[in-house]
Amino acid sequence: MKTWLRPSTNKTILLLASCVFFGGCSDNGSNAQSPVAESPTIVASEEKPLPNEFKEGEAKFNSFCSRCHGAQARGTNNGPPLVHKIYEPNHHADMAFQRAAARGVKSHHWKFGNMPKIEGVVPEDVTHIIGYVRWLQRQAGIF
Ligand code: HEC
Repeated sequence: MKTWLRPSTNKTILLLASCVFFGGCSDNGSNAQSPVAESPTIVASEEKPLPNEFKEGEAKFNSFCSRCHGAQARGTNNGPPLVHKIYEPNHHADMAFQRAAARGVKSHHWKFGNMPKIEGVVPEDVTHIIGYVRWLQRQAGIF
């Protein structure tokens, strides 16, 4: 008598299924055990009022940067959030912000296209903007 699902066949199916399963899991990146740590950390920062020292940075950010980077640097359809792990000081130092504003950025991290050089913003403005963005990043627990 022939059983068409012999034990050995069952084993093969199980093996195949687990390959697909574990293969899918490793797409989460190197740190598969805590995918949460890899995802953008965007936390509402309304809870804490913005200290006065960052108000000028906020105003400049809203004039020059928020149309792409979004209110409170949370991102829009035109640009990425700057309140994001990849823009913390060790990955993108303050100089990267000055350079981005002065020369623009060739698209490399995202699919929004290039960032143009920002007309009318001076390095002193960008220094204020950096202070503001770093404050937002700290509120979000990014560094
Ligand atoms: C017209 C849209 C637009 C405006 C306005 C804009 N950005 Fe960007 N910015 C982008 C895009 C898109 C990227 C992502 C490029 C990429 O794919 O890496 C970016 C990336 C950046 C980066 C990352 C640079 C790097 O080295 O990877 C910084 C920092 C930055 N922007 C700061 C600013 C600041 C500060 C302002 C305001 C003075 C500003 N941006 C205004 C679109 C914009």
